[in-house]
Amino acid sequence: MSAAPVRLHVPLDSAALSVGAEEVAHALAGEAARRGRRVEIVRNGSRGMLWLEPLVEVTTPAGRVAYGPVAASDVPGLLDGGLLTGGAHRLRLGLTEELPYLKRQERLTFARIGVTDPLSLPEYEALGGWRGLRAALGLPGAEVVDRVTRSGLRGRGGAGFPTGIKWKTVLDTPADRKYVVCNADEGDSGTFSDRMVMEGDPYLLFEGMAIAGLALGATHGYIYLRSEYPDAERILLAALERARGAGFLGDDVLGSGRAFHLELRRGAGSYVCGEETALLESLEGKRGIVRYRPPMPAVAGLFGRPTALNNVISFASVPVILDRGADFYRDFGTGRSRGTLPFQLAGNVARGGLVEKAFGLTLRELIEDYGGGTASGRPVRAVQVGGPLGAFLPVSALDVPLDYEALAQKGGILGHGGVVVFDDTVDMAAMARYAMEFCAIESCGKCTPCRIGSTRGVETIDRLVAGKRRDRQVALLKDLCETMVQASLCALGGMAPYPVLSAIEHFPEDFGLTPTDVAPLGAGRH
Ligand SMILES: Cc1cc2nc3c(=O)[nH]c(=O)nc-3n(C[C@H](O)[C@H](O)[C@H](O)COP(=O)(O)O)c2cc1C
Ligand code: SF4
Repeated sequence: MSAAPVRLHVPLDSAALSVGAEEVAHALAGEAARRGRRVEIVRNGSRGMLWLEPLVEVTTPAGRVAYGPVAASDVPGLLDGGLLTGGAHRLRLGLTEELPYLKRQERLTFARIGVTDPLSLPEYEALGGWRGLRAALGLPGAEVVDRVTRSGLRGRGGAGFPTGIKWKTVLDTPADRKYVVCNADEGDSGTFSDRMVMEGDPYLLFEGMAIAGLALGATHGYIYLRSEYPDAERILLAALERARGAGFLGDDVLGSGRAFHLELRRGAGSYVCGEETALLESLEGKRGIVRYRPPMPAVAGLFGRPTALNNVISFASVPVILDRGADFYRDFGTGRSRGTLPFQLAGNVARGGLVEKAFGLTLRELIEDYGGGTASGRPVRAVQVGGPLGAFLPVSALDVPLDYEALAQKGGILGHGGVVVFDDTVDMAAMARYAMEFCAIESCGKCTPCRIGSTRGVETIDRLVAGKRRDRQVALLKDLCETMVQASLCALGGMAPYPVLSAIEHFPEDFGLTPTDVAPLGAGRH
């Protein structure tokens, strides 16, 4: 009998593909065949250590050994060096699970990501998959909702609204039909955790949505996926087919006699389509503009029916809560921020990637211990947390614990957990202008403060930077920003002022101002 093939893992995650993972997989298959070596190449999700992609792993008796970043041209040398037995090579990193970046994480949601073949149902099940759904099937809907409430889970899409309370509204609102909708628009700058779940562990998302659907009495669910994620789309479609075929989705979920159907819809490339009501308009086939609220989507959402609309990470956090209990999940975190958050480190950072940790670590720990400082080697000057509507924080704020309330006290937001780092070469006036311009470009146009205010805001910043009556521009900008914050219909116009005002307050010199000039602004404390 010939020996079993050596198992190699090469990610199929789009971050890995973008730096040549496909070529590496081909090179490994070709080179092994030429040498008469039998290999099985598994295409896994990414471990989230993006600076090491393409990360190749080989299964050895001691565990999986990692090599990276691997180029196709490295493959012959790697095989010469004994890659297939975990042998020495300059790209050898050691046992994957022992790498400090991974080892120090608390991966609840990302436990399988990078470990398994995302499309393998047996691997999903072997590593705890469907256990949350099976538990939920044995419980009344109200009990499932109660567990989610007690876990302390708050929406991971940005607003941090308690998921259990939203679900209870859907449960308690009588209707002939209810829906579950997943917000997979992931438009925030520097964020990629939704994508990694969809590409690396799609059944986890399906499981979370099925738990919601069965608990709330919704027989149909939709994943609204941004059009910029073609790899995620391909993987989700293949996974949906397999999950339906194996009876995890469809008319008779796990033989329970209860139905939950799940479909994928592709968005059309607009930031505001990530706002929940604009998303619902788009899902209904209309132009994605924001709806007036109330009613909230939980009362009258998709096609006017009660709708549990949540972010990918919110749904993906639910299976572990049902499987291991509300208290288990609650035990992670701090204050009113319970559980873990997959932080995403991006921008000018040496070790960019995905770090799932309990709430409460500091921004400094994240950027220095995990991120290794800037990629340029220059000092950090500013950090933007929470996407394009998040405030710019100066270095003096780096010791803030990452939880919803602590960050709000510093004038920041946690949002979807994106952290974008800038070094001391950044021009903060240009960043402020960009933030306002982004709002002007992406505004859906429904309300005046955002539609007109953002354009006037860009013009005012331009005059300020050009040095035209600076005191007047500062006063005008303050007034304009206050109007946008107070009177915009949604958070796009309502929060776009935060990066602008925080940039001026913390980095006045970039605008030709002194700290005294900007004292009245009080950025972030609106
Ligand atoms: C302009 C704008 C864009 C948004 N984009 C997203 C997005 O891409 N993904 C997301 O989950 N939430 C986004 N949100 C937040 C959603 O409106 C909503 O709060 C969220 O999807 C609810 O799910 P959660 O409770 O699980 O967080 C956005 C909000 C605004 C105002
Ligand atoms: S704030 Fe901007 S994006 Fe939001 S409703 Fe008003 S115009 Fe539309």
